[in-house]
Amino acid sequence: MTQNQNDFAIITRQLNRQFSVRIKAEGLTASLRNFFSPVFKTVNAVCDLDMCIGRGEIIGFLGPNGAGKTTTLKMLSGLLMPTSGSIEVLGHTPFNRDHDFLKTISLVMGQKQNLWWDLPPVETFAIHRKIYGLTDAQFESRIGELIEMLEIKDCLETQTRKLSLGQRMRCELAVSLLHQPGILFLDEPTIGLDILMQKKIRNFLLDYHRRFKPTILLTSHYMDDVAALAQRVIVINHGAKIFEGKLKELTDKMHPDKIISVVINNGEFPCTIDDGCRLIHRDGQLYRFLVKRQKVGELAAQLFSTGQIADLTIEDPPLEDIIGQLFTSSEPPARNDNV
Ligand SMILES: Nc1ncnc2c1ncn2[C@@H]1O[C@H](COP(=O)(O)OP(=O)(O)O)[C@@H](O)[C@H]1O
Ligand SMILES: [Mg+2]
Repeated sequence: MTQNQNDFAIITRQLNRQFSVRIKAEGLTASLRNFFSPVFKTVNAVCDLDMCIGRGEIIGFLGPNGAGKTTTLKMLSGLLMPTSGSIEVLGHTPFNRDHDFLKTISLVMGQKQNLWWDLPPVETFAIHRKIYGLTDAQFESRIGELIEMLEIKDCLETQTRKLSLGQRMRCELAVSLLHQPGILFLDEPTIGLDILMQKKIRNFLLDYHRRFKPTILLTSHYMDDVAALAQRVIVINHGAKIFEGKLKELTDKMHPDKIISVVINNGEFPCTIDDGCRLIHRDGQLYRFLVKRQKVGELAAQLFSTGQIADLTIEDPPLEDIIGQLFTSSEPPARNDNV
């Protein structure tokens, strides 16, 4: 089935963004020289990025620190102008920031906030209701639903600065979703939260997506978020796309191994382990092996045939390891421009 241009919520072509960054000098003399005649280098934060994201898709946007994820999200939401290339978000050019465009998107950043620090969340909600021109009926039904889904009833009247990070993040999501944006840019929405709260937010996003089907572009350091939410991932490094596809394809490509954990009944390990299997951990009766994918069945059968196996599990290596492996490449050549 071929996809029509209208099926896409986001299209970028040859998208580039450069920053001119002052080079820091070391030592007093160099610092003084640099102060009077500063030297700049050009950082290519986003390089020739082509993306086509379908309506209603959830995309995991991955890459190491400094890869260009936030810069891309800022360009997609119209906060930053591209150096070159084109962006279409639901037919709009983001940097024009026209009212219709702003009504269709929301950018949620884990490290920045839309809530007013000195006001309780209810008052920020009321301000946003005015900004987006919601009717009483729209406002009440939407806020009621979000309060229930995010379980924030008890923190609405508390000054934002006094809320915990988890409460604040949930109120942040509520205010960002009040106008029911068709596109949601989520930049590290779970950063700094404990595991339980990360899970709560993940489940909320899944539930919200099931009900309203927005297009979501999500960056997260927590691979559990990506595994639970993303239908497809786009990986960038040094601003350029290095992978696009299903998370499973990325895993298979990067890590052709599985982990077999075995608990033996007692005594010595009941058989010898051949090539293609490596013992990576042992704790009492528990042994953990890294096994080439094609050897998994053979080893499991061999282990079971000994009659000494109390438990056996087969898993993929942790996603963090797989993603980490992607980013071991060297630094890009920096271009020095004297300005
Ligand atoms: N306002 C800015 N001025 C100069 N350089 C910037 C600016 N914003 C981002 N950069 C640089 O662009 C690159 C990409 O940054 P960013 O988009 O924040 O990456 P990520 O979100 O993937 O960690 C980094 O090298 C960063 O230092
Ligand atoms: Mg970032």
